[in-house]
Amino acid sequence: MQIRLQKFLSEAGIASRRKAEILIMAGKVEVNGKIVTELGTKIDTEKDVVYYNHKKVEKKQKLIYIMLHKPEGYVTTVKDQFQRPTVLDLLKTVKERVYPVGRLDYDTSGLLLLTNDGALTYRLTHPKHNIEKTYEAKLFGTPSETDILQFRRGVLIDGKKTQPAKLEILEKGEKYCTVRIIIQEGRNRQVRKMCQAIKHPVAQLKRVGTGTLYLKNLEKGKYRYLTEKEIQYLKKL
Ligand code: URA
Repeated sequence: MQIRLQKFLSEAGIASRRKAEILIMAGKVEVNGKIVTELGTKIDTEKDVVYYNHKKVEKKQKLIYIMLHKPEGYVTTVKDQFQRPTVLDLLKTVKERVYPVGRLDYDTSGLLLLTNDGALTYRLTHPKHNIEKTYEAKLFGTPSETDILQFRRGVLIDGKKTQPAKLEILEKGEKYCTVRIIIQEGRNRQVRKMCQAIKHPVAQLKRVGTGTLYLKNLEKGKYRYLTEKEIQYLKKL
């Protein structure tokens, strides 16, 4: 991207744009090893190397926050050993390199956050945070009141009891039912294993919410940038 040198310096946090102009005129800024004093100079942020006071000026990364409606059939890892499609394939129009916040199984759809804000990713995925995650699932059969109670008390999976979880039946059918499940942890294939444990395995699973952020009408395979309010909410969690 071509931008004016003073804009580049101010975005990198060296000085305000006005002050950066003064620094340029004073001969304190070099581009590719040559002092530049002309104010109109444009640089290519991908190729040109800028020095201020003989120190390299690093481009400040713009932090971006994305909500993706992940379809089934995509992995949330950045690279897959079996060459399966990754969620990054759905973000080809995003220039910044972003990473998924946590994961969703290959066969799970729904809300996935992605960002290049490493500090936020670390905080949101740390086990002590326990942000509520809301799922809608199609289950085989219909869980009983006892099953629902068991979810509330915690279900034993992989030899360890889960934290209390909510299970609510939304719709009953002959062979399947639709439920809403809210969990706080993020253990591996947790919802699937919990439903397996009460003998109502998952036929389909979709995450519809993380904390107070919901997919709403975001179409499958599409993404949107989070609003400033949503970003602040995540940062305060
Ligand atoms: N629980 C699961 O079993 N799978 C997911 O993808 C997310 C939660």
